[in-house]
Amino acid sequence: MGAALRRRLARGHAVTSVVRPGKAAPELCWDAGDAAGAAALVGRHKPELVVHCAAQAKPDPCEADPAGTRAVNVAGAAALAEAAAAAGARFFFFSSDQVHDGRTGLYEDDSPASPLSEYGRQKRDAEDAVLAAGGDALVFRLALCFGFSPPGAPPNWIDDMRAALAAGRPVRVFTDQKRSALAVTDAAELVARAAAKPGTPEGRRLLNLAGPAPVSRAEFGEAFCAAFGFDPALLARAKAAESPMAAPRPLDCSLQGARLHAWAGFTPAPVREALARLARGA
Ligand SMILES: NC(=O)c1ccc[n+]([C@@H]2O[C@H](COP(=O)([O-])OP(=O)(O)OC[C@H]3O[C@@H](n4cnc5c(N)ncnc54)[C@H](OP(=O)(O)O)[C@@H]3O)[C@@H](O)[C@H]2O)c1
Repeated sequence: MGAALRRRLARGHAVTSVVRPGKAAPELCWDAGDAAGAAALVGRHKPELVVHCAAQAKPDPCEADPAGTRAVNVAGAAALAEAAAAAGARFFFFSSDQVHDGRTGLYEDDSPASPLSEYGRQKRDAEDAVLAAGGDALVFRLALCFGFSPPGAPPNWIDDMRAALAAGRPVRVFTDQKRSALAVTDAAELVARAAAKPGTPEGRRLLNLAGPAPVSRAEFGEAFCAAFGFDPALLARAKAAESPMAAPRPLDCSLQGARLHAWAGFTPAPVREALARLARGA
């Protein structure tokens, strides 16, 4: 998300990317768990808008190390939101569809959180802290996002899916796990449009950032095979309960994203269309 946003926001804004210590010049680095260093970071760059993308975004490591990951996902996010508020900068934060328990699906923007996993609880607690920080903050509850990793970055889940299918290895896909998936470039487009507008739709500060329709992982896999010319027989369909994971996953945490789409004047492409676009390299 950070890479996609940097590319999109650079059209029209001066963007400063901040990364993990050791990955760039010291003035461009911040450990997202360094709550004490957040004010100095914001003071150094004096941004109009801080878009906080850094997180431990995988549920299983959060389940395994709640204290360590909370320092980043909750305390670090809260400190950065407070620093932005104190400096008069706008603040955008990414929460997750996994704040929901997945029992009903099609959650509204302000549906109350009911997390099943430590990751979901951390995102809920970070939402609360960011919105309590006192500044001009907007929280996006992001649905499943897809796009290949930028060069040099570790492979993500669709890099892994492509590598396995290209090597003729089967890929397990759940038929009963649904999310409102969207391309990361479309998510970045919506965030950039939100950045260009003052205020928020109907004054809301908690918004779903989602694709136009829910898809199961199996449907995603089928669309992926169709777009990239892989053999759909390599998709090993299963129910989520057949393969328990360290962190419990919600079954249907699909989101209603229409309020943000209407306000921003942009609707993300349906998954099949977005994957075809990705396969064309567009
Ligand atoms: N992708 C999704 O489908 C999805 C869905 C819902 C919500 N979200 C949320 O959206 C946001 C962006 O997600 P993403 O998919 O872009 O995640 P990602 O690909 O895992 O990227 C996370 C970034 O955070 C950085 N980071 C992690 N710990 C850090 C630390 N202690 N200090 C500095 N940087 C650190 C990582 O740096 P390194 O590369 O150096 O490790 C990486 O660049 C996250 O808040 C995530 O929880 C994502």
